[in-house]
Amino acid sequence: TEVSETESEEDGPDAKRTFSSSAANATKVAVLGAAGGIGQPLSLLLKHNDLISHLSLFDVVNAPGVAADLSHINEPSKVTGYSPDNDGLKHAVTDASIIVIPAGVPRKPGMTRDDLFNTNAGIVRDLATAAAQYAPKAYMAIISNPVNSTVPIVSEIFKKHKIYDPKRIFGVTTLDIVRASRFVSELKGTNPKNEKIVVVGGHSGVTIIPLLSQSGSNFTDDELKALTHRIQFGGDEVVKAKAGTGSATLSMAYAANRFTGSLLRALKGESGIIEPAYVKSHLFESKGIEYFASNVELSREGVGKVHDLGPLSQYENQLLEAALPELKKNIEKGVDFVHK
Ligand code: NAI
Repeated sequence: TEVSETESEEDGPDAKRTFSSSAANATKVAVLGAAGGIGQPLSLLLKHNDLISHLSLFDVVNAPGVAADLSHINEPSKVTGYSPDNDGLKHAVTDASIIVIPAGVPRKPGMTRDDLFNTNAGIVRDLATAAAQYAPKAYMAIISNPVNSTVPIVSEIFKKHKIYDPKRIFGVTTLDIVRASRFVSELKGTNPKNEKIVVVGGHSGVTIIPLLSQSGSNFTDDELKALTHRIQFGGDEVVKAKAGTGSATLSMAYAANRFTGSLLRALKGESGIIEPAYVKSHLFESKGIEYFASNVELSREGVGKVHDLGPLSQYENQLLEAALPELKKNIEKGVDFVHK
């Protein structure tokens, strides 16, 4: 089932040895769920990244086709595609440095991300198990929803396989920041590229906490409420507009490409790269909440420094109070799923 290898740009025999171990590993990126609404445009964007020498695509349908298509693009990386036959998943992840997972079903109108749990939890568990077996050193970027629960699932699977390293597991929340930056710029007439909005908490509804008091702009109370709601439920706008055919895929692919690119640069040794992500976090551990999204400085180890939230307004403290119990429930649901 492996197709579309381009032979011309294989790593030279010394390529792996000339980098430190983590940098050497940072060249094969696997996308699991690569034929999907997110997977395809994400793979297209990743094909354009010079830090990737091998893009490895897996899906239960059509990944060899997507790989064949992308492999005709005249950029250096090699592209391979795998279906589940002939140990395709094993081959897809073996030696991967980063495994990005957008596999699973997306929302339809009226659904919450938690409604996806029953289908996606099992998919993520199985993909994480393969990663644990065949790519135990890979960095994991989890897109599949509900992220609040799928990150604990991956973590518990890795603990079972005794390869757990919390610095290697990320829930991708980049889209929340991408959206927030865009929405604020629409209101303020600024360039969205220059907006650096901090969004913390989790990745669903009320667990998404924008810290607009840190944005450098002033908002009226009404603006603040409307903007906060739009950032928390921005995904619903897309679900509704797509009218039953899916949720955000293109903006998500953009966001996941940004995150993966940042992680690759950090793994190569670049410092000072900060991205938001949902990770194992000390911030609310004392309240029994093991995972939390905040700004994270990326490093050669993956998660470098987990940033504190900084000063919160009274309104943001209220948002935090509303988020924590929901987040706790979502995390427990993921953990219980693996141990049931
Ligand atoms: P989609 O249905 O278009 O694509 C999902 C792909 O996963 C399909 O190609 C399907 O064949 C594949 N798949 C299903 N089971 C699989 C398995 N066991 N192994 C490998 N591949 C498998 O869905 P879409 O729109 O790409 O969304 C994917 C996921 O991403 C959903 O769970 C969605 O909720 C989530 N999402 C997350 C966001 C975030 O900000 N973290 C934003 C938007 C969506």
